[in-house]
Amino acid sequence: MSRKPFIAGNWKLNLTGDEGSALITSLIAAAASSRAEVAVFPTALAVPAAVKAAAGSIIRVGVQNVHWEEKGAFTGEISASLAKAAGATHVLLGHSERRQYFGETDQTVNKRLKAVLAQGLVPILAIGETLAERDGGKLEEVLSRQVKGALEGFTAAQLSTLVLAYEPVWAIGTGRTATTAQAQEAHAFVRGVVRGIDGGLAERVRIQYGGSVKADNAKELLSQPDVDGALVGGASLKTADFAAILAAA
Ligand code: PGA
Repeated sequence: MSRKPFIAGNWKLNLTGDEGSALITSLIAAAASSRAEVAVFPTALAVPAAVKAAAGSIIRVGVQNVHWEEKGAFTGEISASLAKAAGATHVLLGHSERRQYFGETDQTVNKRLKAVLAQGLVPILAIGETLAERDGGKLEEVLSRQVKGALEGFTAAQLSTLVLAYEPVWAIGTGRTATTAQAQEAHAFVRGVVRGIDGGLAERVRIQYGGSVKADNAKELLSQPDVDGALVGGASLKTADFAAILAAA
C-alpha cells in the first residue's frame, strides 16, 4: 500500500509568533511542490500567528501537547478544544522530552489521545527507546509497551487518523541518526505491533522517523519501505534545511 509521506516540524521551545510566521511564509512554495503532507508545531502561544501565516497553503499547524481535561482548574495547561479553536489540526503526544522532563507516561498519553480524538484532531504519537534500553536488548519490549499502552481501549476506526513517530531518544538533537537499517527494522517492528491491533490500520498508519533528520540523510531514510515521513526538530527551524527535507519526500 502506498502511504502519503508526512513531514512534520517540531519547533519545541523556539520562535515567536512573528518568527514562526516568517518561517512558514518562506516554506509555502517548497510545501506546495512536495509530495508530502506538511505540518509545523509551534509553541501554543505562536499557534494563532502560524495559523494565519499558513492560511490557504497546504501547511497545517499543530500543538506540542494538550491536557486530557477540556477545561477547569488546571493552571498552565491547554486543552484539545482550545487548540482546535485556535486553528490547530494536529497534536504531538508522548514526545520523549515530555516523557523525560515532564513525567509523561503511557497512561497519561492514552488519556491525552482520547481528548485529541474527541476533538477530531490528528494525533502524532511519539515513541522510542533510550540508548540504555537499546543496549540492554529492550528495544522491542519498550516500543511494544509504548504503542499498546497509548492505544489501549481504542478501536481501529477511532484510530483511523493516527500517525506514529519512531524517535530513538539517543538520536534526538545529538546529530546521531539511526542507520537506515536500524530505522527500517524498528518501523517494521512497530507496524507489526499495530497489526496485532488491526491489520488494515497497520497498512494505513504512517510512521514518521525522528532524530537528527537533516537534508542530507532524509532521502535515504524516507526510501525505506516502512518509513512514511519524518518528525524534524532542529532542521525544521531553518527554511533551507526544512525545504530540502520536503523536497526529499
Ligand atoms: P531533532 O529532534 O531533529 O532536533 O533531533 C527531533 C524531535 O525531537 O522531534
